[in-house]
Amino acid sequence: MNEEWLVCKTTGAYLEGLDEIIVTRVQSGTPGVTSMVQMLIRKGGKRIRPALLLLSGSFGRSLSKDLLFPAAAMEMLHVASLYHDDVMDQATRRRQGPTVNNLYGNASAIHAGSFLFARAMELLADTGANLSQVVSHAVSNLCLGQLRESEYRYDVTASTDHYLAVIRQKTASLFELPCTLGAMLAEAGPDIVQAMAHFGKNLGMAFQLVDDLLDLTGDGTIMGKQPGADLREGVYTHAALLALQQPASREDLVGLLLLDVITDAELDRAIGIIKDSGALGETSMLAEHYVRDAIAAIEPLPQTPAKQSLLNLASYVTERRK
Ligand code: IPE
Ligand code: IPE
Ligand code: MG
Ligand code: MG
Repeated sequence: MNEEWLVCKTTGAYLEGLDEIIVTRVQSGTPGVTSMVQMLIRKGGKRIRPALLLLSGSFGRSLSKDLLFPAAAMEMLHVASLYHDDVMDQATRRRQGPTVNNLYGNASAIHAGSFLFARAMELLADTGANLSQVVSHAVSNLCLGQLRESEYRYDVTASTDHYLAVIRQKTASLFELPCTLGAMLAEAGPDIVQAMAHFGKNLGMAFQLVDDLLDLTGDGTIMGKQPGADLREGVYTHAALLALQQPASREDLVGLLLLDVITDAELDRAIGIIKDSGALGETSMLAEHYVRDAIAAIEPLPQTPAKQSLLNLASYVTERRK
């Protein structure tokens, strides 16, 4: 773990042990299955969600290595959601390599994802704390967000409010959860639990808005996944919906987006229309707004390296290229 935003050395050092816990806890007794469920974990990723749990935990009684187990569960939940997401999006690349569905097929990828979910629950149960309500709330929202997104595929009339409600469920839930759990498990007071939950939720909103912008304009070799996937799959994200609302761009954009098969050149033209509409800047401004709300939520917390890491992470989210 060598992310520049993570200036809290204790958290960084603890995270060094993250992969070993996960790799051990997803053993299956069948080597082929084990390597499939370990595949994405071994390929890295930004590890934001486990870091959030540890950083939040530092605001309770002193940061303890025991929190690394629930932190590992957060990464496992996240990776499980990626296994399922890549099936839904028919994605071929993730974390600089082929997706699990691409290599092993959809049925195996779905069961591998569900297995990861279950093993994450087992790790959380091992904490001995009663977390089932808060965890099931987050996971059910994640699934509902993904299902609502599917329901609205190819809907060129969807509203930006609807889109924001979807990303609140599908993405912000899994940022809010580690922030809440870290503070709860470290026995922080209710004010801190609430502040951290608010931070995570708003950070998650900004994170997904930026992910969606990167899908339109990012560099696939840096991101490690294929850009342009959202429009191709009929997922109209914030900037696309804004452009669709503008009379000047709507007709041409709808014509391209609803083609039976969209070529690379047509996809580029659709992205060009969205760019020319000014929507990218508007979406960026909204992401900045969520980042400011996240930062404001943790303002009362003591100035520690953990807090500085959270502030750095908030800035990183809107500047990132992967
Ligand atoms: C990808 O999350 C899924 C979204 C919520 C957009 P990350 O961008 O955190 O993925 P990894 O963990 O770094 O691969
Ligand atoms: C996925 O959002 C969010 C979840 C995994 C719940 P995206 O579909 O935008 O994620 P990427 O871009 O494939 O990583
Ligand atoms: Mg996806
Ligand atoms: Mg995306």
